[in-house]
Amino acid sequence: MPMKIATIVGARPQFIKMASVSRELRKHFNEIVIHTGQHYDYEMNKIFFERLNIPEPDYYLGIGSGSHGYQTGEMLKRIEEVLIEERPDLVLVYGDTNSTLAGALAAVKLHIKVAHVEAGLRSFDKRMPEEINRVLTDHVSDYLFAPTETAVKNLHKEGIKDGVYLTGDVMYDALLYNIKIARKKSRILNELGLRPKEYLLATVHRAENTDSKERLTNIINAFIEINELIVFPVHPRTRKYMEAYGLIEKIEKSPNILLVPPVGYLDMLVLEENARKIITDSGGVQKEAYFLKVPCITLREKTEWVETVKDGWNVLVGANREKIVKAIEEFEPSGETYNHRFGDGNASKRIVEILLERLVGEI
Ligand code: UD1
Ligand code: UDP
Repeated sequence: MPMKIATIVGARPQFIKMASVSRELRKHFNEIVIHTGQHYDYEMNKIFFERLNIPEPDYYLGIGSGSHGYQTGEMLKRIEEVLIEERPDLVLVYGDTNSTLAGALAAVKLHIKVAHVEAGLRSFDKRMPEEINRVLTDHVSDYLFAPTETAVKNLHKEGIKDGVYLTGDVMYDALLYNIKIARKKSRILNELGLRPKEYLLATVHRAENTDSKERLTNIINAFIEINELIVFPVHPRTRKYMEAYGLIEKIEKSPNILLVPPVGYLDMLVLEENARKIITDSGGVQKEAYFLKVPCITLREKTEWVETVKDGWNVLVGANREKIVKAIEEFEPSGETYNHRFGDGNASKRIVEILLERLVGEI
């Protein structure tokens, strides 16, 4: 009987991360997928399962939205029930969302081993919910799959040495696997009437930007001020706050901003690759910009993906209107990109090899 691994996911970037790992995992293990339901709109959820051939969840918990306490608490309760019933040999969690923390916590209290993909990332900003989720998840994990050398160092500094493996980044695997398919299949440039390198691409969704009227207004004012087309796939969180702050009407009157619903991953890769510059507060999008050699302007004060900044391809501008406008007009990368800092595209394979070698020996 192959060993049983429970993969716990719930949010958009986790579906993309699990796509490449699950493909490898299923060659050797019995995988069950538990979906918390943190993201549930078609464009935030099902589109990824359909287009990336991700196995359908075995359990869909349907938790949905709510405050941190409500959402994480409900997930904890419901995941625990499933884990008691299924008794997997290992729980696999990804990244830094509330689904990650709830999955790790439910498992460790049941004495089930935990593996964390994307371990060791730090922004050193505890006001970010993601930072709390990452730190706590790392400290209860048995296997810590670090995407970069920086991540390994961060874990060592916190005294976590056992179970740390430098694997490379599964999002780099995902990009390499999907970019060729995306170039062939995606029609998004035609659909939106875009020409390569004649537009900017923007995404905004982090709580520190959306939940502050001042910050979100500054960002939108910067977008309105510049004289260039901005394609802006809008996360539902951001739409909600733009409506609440009365910004939607302003944007709709602004001819250079093209608001679109969130797009599928293949369309997103094509939009990213053909953008003149990318403006974002997303973790994943910062890296994809780097992998695709597109200059990135990050709407945050700090980033966990420090390599992209050190190498000169990413600039941190926060939510400062003047800095955003200046970076859009003037920021030019100053050096090379070194994708090998994020592995060789085989992080998923390496993770599964480590689990085969270590887990099978231990249990
Ligand atoms: C979550 C993660 C964040 C990650 C992001 C990826 C946490 C604390 N945050 O943020 O780290 O970068 O996912 O996209 O886990 N909503 C919908 N439909 C959906 C999903 C959300 O309308 O399908 C709206 C709801 O109003 C909800 C809000 O978006 O309250 C926020 O959703 P939530 O899952 O709580 O956090 P994200 O901002 O998506
Ligand atoms: N993404 C997507 N469609 C969109 C916006 C983002 O497919 O409309 C992809 C993006 O290419 C990246 C991932 O979603 O792979 C990043 O997720 P997100 O920005 O939601 O979260 P974060 O990485 O900040 O946690």
